[in-house]
Amino acid sequence: MVNADAATISIRIARLSDLEQIVEVESSSFERPYPPALILSMLYLHGDMFYVATGDHEVLGYVVGAREGRYGHVLSIAVKPKWRRKGIGVALMKRLLEEFKSSLLEGARLEVAVSNYAAIALYESLGFKKLGVKKRYYPWGEDAYVMFKRL
Ligand SMILES: CC(C)(COP(=O)(O)OP(=O)(O)OC[C@H]1O[C@@H](n2cnc3c(N)ncnc32)[C@H](O)[C@@H]1OP(=O)(O)O)[C@@H](O)C(=O)NCCC(=O)NCCS
Repeated sequence: MVNADAATISIRIARLSDLEQIVEVESSSFERPYPPALILSMLYLHGDMFYVATGDHEVLGYVVGAREGRYGHVLSIAVKPKWRRKGIGVALMKRLLEEFKSSLLEGARLEVAVSNYAAIALYESLGFKKLGVKKRYYPWGEDAYVMFKRL
């Protein structure tokens, strides 16, 4: 549970019925959001590692990860703009990292755009370290840092 502005926020596994609201979080968070069909496929393929943060029945944020061999991969995270800086991103990440750990994964990795200072600060606050750079990782040509945390 997270307490943000007196609203009680819970983290739970995402359901198919959350799709529309997850799409809303996504489109309010990224200039180039994932299309709804991709989010739907992540719900089907990685539903055991797909979490939403909810407050008063509204989806405020989500995180999704996947097993990749001995490691967990953070595929995406977003929090609705007006709910940011209230600890929801950290709470979502911690829940996913716990799931990675209880799945006996040895570490967590992710890619983040080199200009995404907020996300980089979030990951560093959780102990992720920059391992390297993937040049022109994103379709618009931006580089990504690869970040890693041992579990
Ligand atoms: C990145 C994101 C998920 C963070 O969510 P959030 O709920 O605001 O994060 P939290 O409130 O848990 O922040 C935790 C810590 O991360 C760091 N942080 C988060 N946003 C920050 C910002 N804008 N500037 C600097 N540090 C920031 C801070 O250390 C913060 O702790 P503090 O508030 O006590 O200083 C959110 O900004 C977002 O949805 N961004 C758009 C989508 C995105 O870029 N996703 C990541 C793709 S790789």
